[in-house]
Amino acid sequence: MAHPRAAIWLSCVLLLAATCQGLKYGYYSRSCPPAEYIVRAVVGNAVRQNPGIGAGLIRMAFHDCFVQARNLSSVLLFGCDGSVLLDPTPANPRPEKLGPPNFPSLRGFEVIDMAKAAVEKACPGKVSCADIVQFAGRDASFFLSRGRVSYALPGGRLDGRVSLENETLAFLPPPSFNLTQLIGSFKAKGLSVDDMVVLSGAHSVGRSHCSSFSDRIGTAPPSNMDPRLAAALRRRCPANPTFSNDPTVVQDAASPNVLDNQYYRNVLGRRVLFTSDAALLTSRRTAAMVRDNARRSGRWERKFARAMVKMAAVEIKTRANGEVRRNCRLVN
Ligand code: HEM
Ligand SMILES: *[C@@H]1O[C@H](CO)[C@@H](O)[C@H](O)[C@H]1NC(C)=O
Ligand SMILES: *[C@@H]1O[C@H](CO)[C@@H](O)[C@H](O)[C@H]1NC(C)=O
Ligand SMILES: *[C@@H]1O[C@H](CO)[C@@H](O)[C@H](O)[C@H]1NC(C)=O
Repeated sequence: MAHPRAAIWLSCVLLLAATCQGLKYGYYSRSCPPAEYIVRAVVGNAVRQNPGIGAGLIRMAFHDCFVQARNLSSVLLFGCDGSVLLDPTPANPRPEKLGPPNFPSLRGFEVIDMAKAAVEKACPGKVSCADIVQFAGRDASFFLSRGRVSYALPGGRLDGRVSLENETLAFLPPPSFNLTQLIGSFKAKGLSVDDMVVLSGAHSVGRSHCSSFSDRIGTAPPSNMDPRLAAALRRRCPANPTFSNDPTVVQDAASPNVLDNQYYRNVLGRRVLFTSDAALLTSRRTAAMVRDNARRSGRWERKFARAMVKMAAVEIKTRANGEVRRNCRLVN
């Protein structure tokens, strides 16, 4: 936010040329000057009350971008299009929100509603829900990292009208993925191996339901998880979690509410929950990235910011068929 304009443009041109199309830094500087400040204030309040909501917002930014929407002619339209926010309606009873990667675990929807209400009051009909989701993920990263993850984010996404549950499983990587599958799922969105490793660092905040890693804490056969962590998780989790009996645990026991590079030390110490986290050590190349991110404080934070900007531009293809929703939960 504090970036001088020249630096912003330079970073756009040099680092992200391919992803800047259609999006603009300071997009709302004329149409709704206080937009970004309002979102930041609302997110700041929410994170102070419950840091877990901040984790939810970072995850929401990811999930919105990875699930593509098609229009009626099956033309791919938007990635980061606010489609994750749409509630079920008679016309669309199974939106993304109900997909297994999102329901019941995705959280923070009320914060988006609050930010939207405040922004609508200041400048009705100007600010898209899709942009609010990405600004909120950026701001949650800022607060949870204690200001160390700080970046300008271009705006100009429009809200999509399509949201399909079946596309969540098709595009969001499950925690059981191995390295090849993870790389493939990020590559499909134009994101590199390095982006994948860097963005996985978001698992230094927030929580997980037992069902997302119960395959890794049994004793026969044992996984390569640190046996002490596995034993602690066995005490917290039922052997066979069900929808109605699925407790949560923190992702990073060392600093559960701080977004930092502790995640990579956890990966190296085999103190991570998912197969997908542990998979980062299964190639020499990604293991070297893990060690690099674990070592240097400050560097991962900058790389994370850059990768979040890149992710927030996934499949922003066209303005046709987009809108600025009045209510983030419903198409206009
Ligand atoms: C690399 C592939 C990834 C996989 C397989 C994955 C999987 C998961 C799973 C299974 C959970 C726990 C959900 C639950 O049971 O409650 C989770 C939580 C989380 N994920 Fe990921 N994730 C991935 C990448 C990312 C990325 C790229 C981000 C954001 C940049 C992210 C941010 C988060 C956050 C912040 C949480 C905690 C959410 C909360 O506390 O509400 N993840 N992830
Ligand atoms: C789908 O999107 C494409 C590309 O923007 C557009 O040409 C086409 O008319 C759209 N179809 C419908 C039914 O909206
Ligand atoms: C999801 O369902 C819609 C319509 O029901 C279909 O057009 C689309 O191809 C499906 N997507 C996937 C990934 O199966
Ligand atoms: C990852 O899983 C896929 C699909 O099950 C499999 O084809 C592939 O060989 C696996 N890769 C590794 C490195 O285990």
